[in-house]
Amino acid sequence: MLILGIDTSCDDTSASVVENGVRILSNIVSSQTDIHAKYGGIVPELASRRHIEMILTVVDEALNRADVSLPDLSAIAVCHGPGLIGSLLVGCSFAKAVSYSKQIPLIAVNHLEGHILSAFLENPSPEFPFLSLIVSGGHTSLYIAEGYGRYIELGRTRDDAAGEAYDKVSKLLGLGYPGGPIIDKLAEQGNPHAIDFPRAYLPESFDFSFSGIKTAVLNFLKSEGKMQNAKDRVDEATDSKLINDIAASFQASVVDVLVRKTEWALKKKGIKRIALSGGVSANSSLRKKIKEMADTKGAEVFIPSVSLCTDNAAMIAAAGYHHFINKDFAGLELNPRAYLPL
Ligand code: KG4
Ligand code: ZN
Repeated sequence: MLILGIDTSCDDTSASVVENGVRILSNIVSSQTDIHAKYGGIVPELASRRHIEMILTVVDEALNRADVSLPDLSAIAVCHGPGLIGSLLVGCSFAKAVSYSKQIPLIAVNHLEGHILSAFLENPSPEFPFLSLIVSGGHTSLYIAEGYGRYIELGRTRDDAAGEAYDKVSKLLGLGYPGGPIIDKLAEQGNPHAIDFPRAYLPESFDFSFSGIKTAVLNFLKSEGKMQNAKDRVDEATDSKLINDIAASFQASVVDVLVRKTEWALKKKGIKRIALSGGVSANSSLRKKIKEMADTKGAEVFIPSVSLCTDNAAMIAAAGYHHFINKDFAGLELNPRAYLPL
């Protein structure tokens, strides 16, 4: 069974053909990083416009690489939320048009379910139940995946997502966008104990909060006389040691919270498997620390390759397969939703 997945939820235009929910025949991602980089974050209007320009080429490429044509498809699975509404609208409109004109069944997939099920696109994959920690620029959420379609949300961020914190701190430090990979790299040269940034553990809750850490970094820079307000830029050339230490200390704070919360969830819920997804799961320190923690608890960790951790349409096609099995189809009245809980 061949399913075409489409994801345009944020700033990547992606299409993929997946066989039987697990075998990726193609997974094309057109990134918009170059467009948004000069603004230090995603500009929603520019994102939607770029999706319109790219969607046809990306879907065509996905079908060609998979050596598949539209009549071979069992269904088209499209991400209908959560995400940027203008961006989602492009993917949904495109999928509905192709579904209607070629009489191919349409399936609506929640982006977060896609991230959770990305764990099944590589071997070994987890057995249910497992904890799923989704950490990206738009989300930081912890779920128990009990089975296909059965997800219990334990917690989510109350303000910024972890990736958003990386991007904002990177902007403060004048380092560029996206901030995650840059800070990850600089942190290797820095001392994680140099600055004691706060950790928002939110006791007795599985929720997260990452907005305070950005303010803590800003206040630190002001106290060091490096910056008067958030619009100033630190001079990277003269302050490289300081910047490396800030990067390492900031990263230690974010990673500590993510790891400790996951550890607490393992204990409280008596679960022995953890799957990670979202762009921040590419982080070298998070990957290392979560594995170390899991080893001490006798738990298994599943982290897909980076291309499957970041936004991609293969995860949407994989999730779509299970909706297909359950005959859970969408109609042409399908509308995108910026806010869409699982
Ligand atoms: O999942 P993703 O590609 O898109 C969504 O946000 O949905 O995640 C992008 C986020 C950005 O905030 C980026 O800074 C962060 O993932 N990121 C990282 C790393 N690579 C990407 N954060 C920390 N360390 C990394 N190595
Ligand atoms: Zn995502």
